[in-house]
Amino acid sequence: MKYQAPRGTYDILPEDIQKWHYIENIIRKLTSLYNYYEVRVPIFEQLDLFKRSVGEDTDIVEKEMYTFKDKKGRELALRPEGTASIARMVAEHNLQSSKKEPLRLWYEGPMFRYSRPQKGRYRQFYQFGVECIGSSKPIADAEIIAIGWQILQEAKVPDVSLEINSVGCPECREQYNILLKEFLYKDKDKYCADCRRRMEQNPLRVFDCKNNTCRQLIKNAPRMLDSICDKCSEHFEGVKKNLEMMKVPFTVNPEIVRGLDYYTKTAFEYKVNYLGAQDALGGGGRYDGLIEYLGGKQTPAVGLSMGLERIILSLEKSEFLFPEDNNLKVLVIPIGTAALQASIEMMQEFHKADISAIIADESSSVGSNLKLCDKNNVSFAVLIGDNELKSGLYVVKDIKKKAQSEIKKEEVVSFIKNT
Ligand code: HAM
Repeated sequence: MKYQAPRGTYDILPEDIQKWHYIENIIRKLTSLYNYYEVRVPIFEQLDLFKRSVGEDTDIVEKEMYTFKDKKGRELALRPEGTASIARMVAEHNLQSSKKEPLRLWYEGPMFRYSRPQKGRYRQFYQFGVECIGSSKPIADAEIIAIGWQILQEAKVPDVSLEINSVGCPECREQYNILLKEFLYKDKDKYCADCRRRMEQNPLRVFDCKNNTCRQLIKNAPRMLDSICDKCSEHFEGVKKNLEMMKVPFTVNPEIVRGLDYYTKTAFEYKVNYLGAQDALGGGGRYDGLIEYLGGKQTPAVGLSMGLERIILSLEKSEFLFPEDNNLKVLVIPIGTAALQASIEMMQEFHKADISAIIADESSSVGSNLKLCDKNNVSFAVLIGDNELKSGLYVVKDIKKKAQSEIKKEEVVSFIKNT
């Protein structure tokens, strides 16, 4: 029986890992420059956490969650996203209470959504996220948006556009829902069954429908942005002004509603136009009510997440040359089994000096071991045989320069370090 990775999942092979390291290094650098702290939360949580935060009527909760019961019958779910866990963590540990500065957190890890797999859409995918917790000011929204923008710029992802919107607060949403329902009810029977149910419970979710008829019908619906209250409007103006000051280019797109229920005020997405339907590299927004809703103190917050696969796909599409991970520096080649002890000691000396080194197969010929160096971009080979053991002088080959020297065994490490 030959097994395959489950549908919608994939392996990251050794030859591809450098692509991940490339983007992860940029993420680590930028989050550190903005003073964000890394946190790690569980991969599974109580099912109810996602129902309450992401929303019962969303596609994610209704159709895409991996849910299961443990041996004690507890209902759990693999996390479909990270923000719910972060909000739960802040509420559970009362993290915000003693700090004046907002809490700046970031995370990366696998998320799980049971959707139809295609290029850029997987059932297990990696998200990176940043969450700024404790500030209601527009500058916090702009900071979050700017971090995402800078990461994509620094990674050299081509032709990214940033679209922003405001989805208002619960008060203006209530007014807007009345307007939207009125519009939807005019053609109620023409919508699909899902939409008909959603227009009763949570009309904004009708915008998520993938059905063509529904999409056509909702095209002329009133937009949230035209109904936001003065406070939300002032906040949105502040976000735009701050983004301008930060020189982050954006367009306002009133159609951005996001597929999760917890958003208030700002909502945004980074998009490219060359990845087909999976055109969103990342997105996020403000969620001022979520932490309190999960039992914490009233704490405003704003954040974003990005899909790492989509960033890598964008770079592959533009034929970007990913920098290679550090290659093996030294291959120690024992010539015959008598040299094995000395070769192991040599390798250990390299490791003490933080130089990567491994031992070649002593039963292969020197020629084929040297060929391996060429193939794998190894910088040096150290040859140890009977002669070398006797004389105490090891042969050091500089593979790239095609040069060879005989070096006292005690000086081999410093010789290679300084070459
Ligand atoms: P989201 O828009 O659902 O937001 O996901 C963010 C990003 O994750 C997407 O833009 C996409 O790049 C990637 N993504 C989502 N689903 C998949 C999939 N099936 N396969 C591959 N990539 C995918 C959130 O998850 C929110 N937590 C963002 C946020 C953080 N809001 C506030 N803070």
